[in-house]
Amino acid sequence: MRLSVIGCGYVGLVTGACLAEAGHDVICTDIDGERIAQLQAGGIPIYERHLDQVLAAGRGAKRLSFTPDAGEAIRGGDVIFICVGTPPKESGEADLSAIDHVARQIAREARSPKLVIEKSTVPARTGVELRRALTAYSRNSAIQFRVASNPEFLREGTAVLDFFHPDRVVVGVEEEISAAELREIYRPILERKFNCPVHEGKCPPGAEGAFLVTTINSAELIKHASNSFLALKISYANVIADICEKIGADVEEVTQAMGLDPRIGTQFLKAGLGFGGFCFPKDIQAFIHLSESVGVNFDILKAAERVNKQRIDRILEKVHKALWVMKGKHVAVLGLAFKANTDDIRFAPALEVVRRLLEEGAKVHGSDPEAMPRAKAVFPQVSYHADPYEALQDADAALVCTEWDVFRQIDWERAGKQMARKLVIDGRNLYSPRRMRELGFEYHCFGRME
Ligand code: UDX
Repeated sequence: MRLSVIGCGYVGLVTGACLAEAGHDVICTDIDGERIAQLQAGGIPIYERHLDQVLAAGRGAKRLSFTPDAGEAIRGGDVIFICVGTPPKESGEADLSAIDHVARQIAREARSPKLVIEKSTVPARTGVELRRALTAYSRNSAIQFRVASNPEFLREGTAVLDFFHPDRVVVGVEEEISAAELREIYRPILERKFNCPVHEGKCPPGAEGAFLVTTINSAELIKHASNSFLALKISYANVIADICEKIGADVEEVTQAMGLDPRIGTQFLKAGLGFGGFCFPKDIQAFIHLSESVGVNFDILKAAERVNKQRIDRILEKVHKALWVMKGKHVAVLGLAFKANTDDIRFAPALEVVRRLLEEGAKVHGSDPEAMPRAKAVFPQVSYHADPYEALQDADAALVCTEWDVFRQIDWERAGKQMARKLVIDGRNLYSPRRMRELGFEYHCFGRME
């Protein structure tokens, strides 16, 4: 099928490249001309595992192309995926101006019927407005627009893998034919009818993910409800961790046992510095805003958000208690990305920690396998070290903010000899408290007996 993708961020690029790999002809565009020029020249503007491989295959097979001309992209596809940003406004409400802009562009530039799909995360009822904008701005009433919602459930860092091995593909539609078209688009993936380039042990060939057809409102809600639930789970684990600290229990033991109940599950119960990234914080805010706009109380989600913000205070309390005076102290911050395996620093807890450390006069030395260039643009005053041992040289404290494997594997015996003081404050519970104690470290973590 001929598909267009508008917006070449994390979601759009992965969607476009993976759909090309699955056998479709895909044309992608973005309002950022530099980004398109980079993609046309064979570059990749973001770090996402396997994306290089899938992009190269799509380009090689001539099924994937990029254009700075939105009109060309719109006319080049029968189905258009809208993958533009929906950032939070000051009030927490999702800013839908990019969706509105694209809707008007589609209405103006289309010369044939289109199935227009919201893939960006949007609040419920956006589909109604999208349809209205498409109709209102169309210059040719003979051109039919159908609207659908197809929310993404892609985790940064494993987005390509998630796209090829979905637990579920949700399509919110108004007409049966839209569901049929979307089923056709996803058929190679759902039925594993193509040579999938990435497996990593997930989804044995032949396994089908669920294909769920819903209303557009439900599909939009499914995305917000899913992410908010996961955020609730993390905040819940974090409160349990605080209780464990007070009464002398171990949060890992507690959550592991809780998770063995299949109704609870073990995932997303890791206590620590809390969640960040461009999805959870903004999706929660948008969902709270939506619930308030329809008069439904969502205090439970507000509490999850509050708990998450307080994680930063909690780690800084630990830092203050251990370091006493912050001014002039050399603090090695291990991890700047909002989670491992990404270069994304948007709403990263690590950045807020760095900001507060700098405010208090600490000398921050940061290390991250992928996120340093982005962090440098925000905090040029931080010293950056590709090698974590360099960041730890003469450090008064090490603060672990992101759960990268390279930090998990640090040889603390070696690092301890380099540090000015053997102090580790672990925001991701990566190390064994006993082992750290044996190595002579003062070690603080979250909800575990130290
Ligand atoms: C999320 C959803 O998982 C995905 O389905 C959706 O489409 C987009 O939003 P992502 O933003 O990439 O994906 O992050 P995710 O892997 O879900 O992690 C979110 C944050 O929660 C990270 O900061 C992570 O460190 C934190 N986290 C996760 C915890 O603090 N504890 C946990 O147990 C799990």
